[in-house]
Amino acid sequence: MTVFSHESFADHEQVVFVSDESVGLKAVIAIHDTSLGPALGGCRMYPYEDEQAALRDVLRLSRGMTYKAAAAQLDLGGGKAVIIGDPRRQKTPELLQAMGRAVERLGGRYITAEDVGTSVVDFAEVRKSTRHVVGLPVELGGSGDPSPTTALGVFYGLDAAARYRWRAESLSGRSVAVQGLGNVGWYLCQLLREAGASLVVSDVDEARVAKAVSTFAARAVDPDEIYAVEADIFAPCAMGAVLNDTSVGHLRCEIVGGAANNQLAREEHGEQLRVRGILYAPDFVINAGGMIRVASERDGYDEDLVKRGVEGIGRTLHAIFERAEADGVSTQKAALRLAQARLVRAGSEKQALVA
Ligand code: NAI
Repeated sequence: MTVFSHESFADHEQVVFVSDESVGLKAVIAIHDTSLGPALGGCRMYPYEDEQAALRDVLRLSRGMTYKAAAAQLDLGGGKAVIIGDPRRQKTPELLQAMGRAVERLGGRYITAEDVGTSVVDFAEVRKSTRHVVGLPVELGGSGDPSPTTALGVFYGLDAAARYRWRAESLSGRSVAVQGLGNVGWYLCQLLREAGASLVVSDVDEARVAKAVSTFAARAVDPDEIYAVEADIFAPCAMGAVLNDTSVGHLRCEIVGGAANNQLAREEHGEQLRVRGILYAPDFVINAGGMIRVASERDGYDEDLVKRGVEGIGRTLHAIFERAEADGVSTQKAALRLAQARLVRAGSEKQALVA
C-alpha cells in the first residue's frame, strides 16, 4: 500500500494506523493540517472493500476538513478517522472505547465526532476513554445531532445562490432535486418546503422516498434519474463523487449545492460546471453547519453563536461567487483560494495545493 506517494496524500502532517485485535479494531486517523488549531473531523465506520479504499477515503475527507474549518472561520485544523468494518455487525462498546484510546494517544491533536456509520450515542462510549470528542449527546453536555444545523447551512447557502444567480428574493416557487433523504436531506426538504420550493427526491431506501412523497408532496425519481431531472437546483445529500464525467453533462439545473462531502470526482469537474453555466456552491463551504455546531462545544455550546456562524455560510458563498466571476475561475477554485489564504496567514506550508 502506498501512503506518501498516494494520489490523495496532499502533504498530510500525520497518518496513524490503529489496530486492536482483541476488539476487532482496524482504523486510520489522518491529520491534514493543524496550523489553525487541533484537527477536527468525524469518525466514519464503513465496510471498505480493502485498506486502500479506506486510506483514500480518510485522506480525501481529512483534507476537506482543513478547508471547511478555514472557510468557516473556525480555529481548527482538518482531520478525519475511518474504522474499517460493518457498523451493523461490528460496532461494539469495546471497539468504540479502543478507538477512544487511539484518539487519546494523540494528545488532542485530533478531535473526533460522529460521521457516517457512527452516531452521537456511540460517542458516549468513545468519551469513556478520551476527552477529545465533540458531537456528544445533550445529556453529556454536548450539542446532539449536528444534521439539522448542517441542513440549515445548506438552506442558507442555496438561498444565497438563488439570490446571486437569479437576483431572487427567496427560494419560493423554485424546484429542487434532492438526492438522499437521510438525516440532512430530510431536514433540508422540510426547510425548502417551508420556503415554498417544490421537491423532486430520490433515495435507494424506498420507504424514505414514499414518506417524502406523502410528507412533502414531492415527486419521486429513481436514483439514476436524479441527475437529469429538470429542476432549478440539484442538492446532493447522499455520497461523494456525484459530479463526475458522466453526470455533469446530464445536469439540467442552474445551481448545485448540497450536504455531501467531496461532490466533485475531480477538481476539473468544478471547471466543467462553470463552463456549463451552472453555479456550484462548494461542498466544504455549504455543508459546514454541523462542524460549526460541534466545534462550539469546546467553549460550551451556545445556540445563538452557532446560528450566527451558520448564517455566515450564505455570506461566505456570496463572496466566493463574486470572486470566481471576477477572476474567471470555478467557484471551487475561488473557495479553495479563500480557505488557503487563511491557512497561509496562519503559517501553513501547504501553499502549493491551489494554483
Ligand atoms: P445519512 O446516512 O443519514 O443519509 C444518506 C442518505 O442517502 C440515506 O438515506 C441513503 O439511503 C441515501 N443514499 C445512499 N446512496 C444513495 C444513492 N445512490 N442515491 C440516492 N440516495 C442514496 O447521511 P447524512 O448524515 O444525511 O449525510 C449526508 C451526506 O452529507 C453525507 O455525504 C455526509 O458525509 C455529508 N455531511 C453530513 C453532515 C451531517 O451533519 N450529518 C455534515 C457534513 C456533511
